[in-house]
Amino acid sequence: MAKVKFYGGESVPLEMHKVRIVQKLNLPPVERRLEAITEAGNNTFLLRNADVFMDMLTDSGVNAMSDQQQAAMMIADDSYAGSATYTRLEAKLQDIFGMDYFLPAHQGRACENILGQVLVTPGSVVPMNYHFTTTKAHITLNGGIVEELVSDAGLEVVSVHPFKGNMDVAKLQSTIGKHGADKIAFVRMEAGTNLIGGQPFSLENLADIRKVCDQHRLLLVLDASLLADNLHFIKNREESCKALSIREITRKMADLCDLIYFSARKLGCARGGGMCMRSEELYRRMRGLVPLYEGFLTYGGMSVREMEALTVGLEETMDEEVINQGPQFIGYMVDELQKRDIPVITPAGGLGCHINAMKFVDHIPQAQYPAGALASALYIAGGIRGMERGTLSEQREPDGTEIFANMELVRLALPRRVFTLSQVKYAVDRLEWLYANRRMIGGLVFTEEPEILRFFYGRLAPVSNWQEKLVAKFREDFGDSL
Ligand code: F0G
Repeated sequence: MAKVKFYGGESVPLEMHKVRIVQKLNLPPVERRLEAITEAGNNTFLLRNADVFMDMLTDSGVNAMSDQQQAAMMIADDSYAGSATYTRLEAKLQDIFGMDYFLPAHQGRACENILGQVLVTPGSVVPMNYHFTTTKAHITLNGGIVEELVSDAGLEVVSVHPFKGNMDVAKLQSTIGKHGADKIAFVRMEAGTNLIGGQPFSLENLADIRKVCDQHRLLLVLDASLLADNLHFIKNREESCKALSIREITRKMADLCDLIYFSARKLGCARGGGMCMRSEELYRRMRGLVPLYEGFLTYGGMSVREMEALTVGLEETMDEEVINQGPQFIGYMVDELQKRDIPVITPAGGLGCHINAMKFVDHIPQAQYPAGALASALYIAGGIRGMERGTLSEQREPDGTEIFANMELVRLALPRRVFTLSQVKYAVDRLEWLYANRRMIGGLVFTEEPEILRFFYGRLAPVSNWQEKLVAKFREDFGDSL
């Protein structure tokens, strides 16, 4: 995949950029790490950054910006209405996606709020390849039902399927048959399907879904937050797209959709969000909610500086050499983990590396949140902050029953262009040590469980003193190492 081959034959994801601004990091000793994770209620969202060495929580809003993005921020035109910055962003989106109408929003979930309020009615159904946490929350909040129709391969942890994010077309047909087309609010495809390991769908699959939508006159909505990674995989894995440029693939995808929304914390390496659409009628129905929840129509809650950075970031996303870096680093990390038999989602996807906690700590029952426990243990082992993506990230049924997730994952995000290869090697090393000592890891129980999006700020405690024992083993094995 890499364009530069090494004489020694080693496959190295060589960076096609140089680093000109750096941030000093702190790696607290293991004893302090235990204190910090205890203070954080074993929830990596509640750790303070000062206690974190490698922040692999997310790629959201923490990608490295380019010099061109930073430079563009200096020409931001600050005005409440009609800023030139907005005009530049709108023109860039029209140029890339070829859709006439744009509504800005402060981030991805704000678009989901508006989509939910306008399109979702009580009892309506939203078929999708797979849900994302905030998406599902907004749909259910408006009384809608989420139907997940990802292909069976999507839920196989270990696979060689190049497009595990594909929607199963037959399942879509039968869902429409079951509920009736008039009950379907819209069909949603998520690029770089987040919760199943950043897995892409193919252009061919999107075209097949479009055909079904046309048969039943349904709206096709693309969540393009993780579009950059998906574009990279289409270009590299889909035979019929190998000769196309990233820009051409993007336009072909957009041409199949009615509406594209995105989190600009991911797409475009800035902060913000928005929705592009073709229909003036739909635009008019949604427009009123932007000033109500976000801000005036020409900024939608974004700062003008971020909008300038986004405009440049979107253009840079059309450069294969720019969007290659994330997936190549992830591919490298996944390969290294596989060499050490550490269970990980394959094939490597976008966004980050996804550890299969169901297997890594197969002695921990799902009711004791194996992925949450592993995330806590990894922080203790290396000051590495990952994110639980399993049962803890689900919502309970209205009657309080726990919904066990299809997958128990610890997501180790690789924010774009942020980490060096030696830092990735360090993460692999600490995971290797933890895997050798995996039987020492125990489960977690809630001590404080919020009703909505509990994973963000719920607090948990270990079921025994396994964490103290893990710290003692660390000292035994690593001596005075941090
Ligand atoms: N859709 C997808 C596929 C996402 O991954 C996210 C955010 C959103 C929508 C919501 O966007 O954060 O700007 O409001 N994902 C982040 C993550 C939070 O860490 O994966 P947002």
